Amino acid sequence: MESYRKLLLANKAFVQDKVGVDPNYFKNSAVDQKPEFLWIGCSDSRVPAEDITGTQPGELFVHRNVANLVIHTDFNLLSVLQYAVEVLQVKHVIVCGHFGCGGVKNAMHRKDLGLINKWLRHIKDTYRLYSRELEAIPNTEARFDRLVELNVIEQVQNLAETSIVQHAWHLHGRPEIHGWVYDMRTGYLKELARMQPGAKIDDIYTFEFDEPSEQ
Ligand code: CO
Repeated sequence: MESYRKLLLANKAFVQDKVGVDPNYFKNSAVDQKPEFLWIGCSDSRVPAEDITGTQPGELFVHRNVANLVIHTDFNLLSVLQYAVEVLQVKHVIVCGHFGCGGVKNAMHRKDLGLINKWLRHIKDTYRLYSRELEAIPNTEARFDRLVELNVIEQVQNLAETSIVQHAWHLHGRPEIHGWVYDMRTGYLKELARMQPGAKIDDIYTFEFDEPSEQ
């Protein structure tokens, strides 16, 4: 059997399982979504967002890209963010990195990988920003782990620096932004950073809005 057929067969089993427990499962889940969380994670196949957080369909609005980056000119990410914050009105945005991330690892090396060089360049910028701290870590694996963490912390900042997030903070006092890292070696998530609505960020990245706050 060709490997992809396994997926289609598993889908049939999935439907039977769900309908076996609740005949209206699909009818109910197709009605609407009201997720409380936007998840921005890595595309890595070993980090299944719903599984590691024990969430069900309808609970997580998900965006994944290589190395869970929040790039302020990435219309894909920004569209997801805007829709999640303004239309779905999520309460929390979670950026989740993971140890052993291939994107971060490749950014630490000099090998030319083609187009993705341009994407990974953002991680190199983070490395340069924290080069003193990173280069004081003698163990390569430990340095790699720390860059994974710093990359998450930077993406939390990047989110707070968007007018989308600041506008929602100003008007509605949400969302809270979280930076987590997943350890594939243990299965545990670790909290690295948390930004409450209205948190102070660098002046140069702070927007002023005309309409008065509703809070
Ligand atoms: Co990764």
